Amino acid sequence: MSVLKALLEPRSIAVVGASRSPGKIGYTILRNIIEYGFKGELYPVNPNATEILGYRAYPSITAIPGEVDVAVVVIPAPETPKVIEECGKKGVKIAVVISSGFSEVGNTELEERIVKIAREYGVRILGPNIFGYAYTPRNINATFGPLEVAKGNIAFITQSGALGIALMGWTIMNEIGLSGLFSIGNMADIDVVELSELLADDPSTRVITVYLEGLKPGRGREFIERMSRVTLRKPVVVIKAGVTKRGMKAVASHTGSLAGSDALYEAAFKQAGIIRARTITELFNIARAFAQQPIPRGVNTVVITNGGGAGVLATDAAELNNVPLLEPSQQLVEKFKETMPWFGSPKNPVDLTGQAVVDNYIKALKVAVESPEVDNIVILYCRTAILDPRDLAKAIAEFYRENNVSKTTVIAFIGGVEVYEAIRYLNRSSIPAYPTPEEAVAALGKMLWYKKYLESRLKKQEVEAVRLALHPA
Ligand code: COA
Repeated sequence: MSVLKALLEPRSIAVVGASRSPGKIGYTILRNIIEYGFKGELYPVNPNATEILGYRAYPSITAIPGEVDVAVVVIPAPETPKVIEECGKKGVKIAVVISSGFSEVGNTELEERIVKIAREYGVRILGPNIFGYAYTPRNINATFGPLEVAKGNIAFITQSGALGIALMGWTIMNEIGLSGLFSIGNMADIDVVELSELLADDPSTRVITVYLEGLKPGRGREFIERMSRVTLRKPVVVIKAGVTKRGMKAVASHTGSLAGSDALYEAAFKQAGIIRARTITELFNIARAFAQQPIPRGVNTVVITNGGGAGVLATDAAELNNVPLLEPSQQLVEKFKETMPWFGSPKNPVDLTGQAVVDNYIKALKVAVESPEVDNIVILYCRTAILDPRDLAKAIAEFYRENNVSKTTVIAFIGGVEVYEAIRYLNRSSIPAYPTPEEAVAALGKMLWYKKYLESRLKKQEVEAVRLALHPA
């Protein structure tokens, strides 16, 4: 077992600096670990306490009787070298160093010192300057963020604690889950590449997402080579911050990273097969498409809508995002015609008209799913008084479940509160749903880009193997 695997599957966790005072970071982390349901051994370490939150406390990590796989270190930075040394003596595999006050404030020497000590003993360091990590398959929430982390298949590696916390809330609001969440802060030792490699092997992760401020100097080539291998197994979506002059300066004082030239990063991402998102919304939008839908088998896409305008917007978005819209055969046009009123449009976009009810949608979906001409489906709905979006969402989810549909599908529902409820329902049912046609089509565009990328690097059966590994039939 690689040492890093212990981060995902620790048998035991110690919290060094577990505090007795509610409100302190060391208290919150211990409480989150307990309340999120970690099943292994848990050891609070605090020289001034004998018991915290019902767990026996130890004066130092070396005083713990059993083995310790992961030590979460939550003590002031100047005291960390001593604790890392004790972790080494104890045989701790990974030290998760929450403390701030290292290279991000110019204290490079202290950071180098803890890394040097850790290396002497074979301890790996996550951090410092992080808000912790979570791995949901093992019920680990070792963060001082919110307790709730929705379980799912998206892994998020972040150089920003705040963004990690934002994502935790977003996943719950949108009913989309995470496999893991890793704050990497200053990346003094374990970096984004190593974590991505770890997650490439993780069966619970279907897509790796990253908020990146910068890499350590001189690591560009290695980044491309190693990430290229990761992206041939799983999609990786990165949002790179610090693209403007002032943004770069902000990066230097946030994590001490080198933001570097944006053009260089752009080229590196392209070479490594990394999908670049420009906004947080886009990052999460793409991630949920990959987490919930299989990689497309082909490119021919059909749009089914009850609103002409939404169909036109989706058509534009398709062209802009390299999503080829199918030119349906006359035979297929005739079949679509039977699913709509006489004044509907059976071409692509298939416009069921504002008069459409559940039955029209399901009939049209049946035609699309059964047609060998169609590879991917975009379903659009604009709120009308004659069709409750929640009824439509339920019917679509049921249709997909009962027919075991494996054609890649994205959905956009446009409207108010009930539409939001319907979107959440669809997400819960593993069909990615968005509030606008552009977002749905853009996410599909990235999936098609990834399919093409895999095909350019792998043999046909290897692409199929990746597809199946991510979404077993
Ligand atoms: N071993 C074990 N426990 C120790 C210890 C040691 N060597 N030294 C101190 N402690 C205990 C203290 O007794 C205290 O427990 P108590 O509250 O029950 O008395 C607890 O550890 C915390 O120590 P304290 O000195 O009160 O520190 P703090 O809670 O004020 O701050 C940090 C500690 C790590 C949270 C703080 O230094 C820090 O770095 N904060 C920023 C964290 C951050 O923002 N990270 C990045 C997020 S993106």
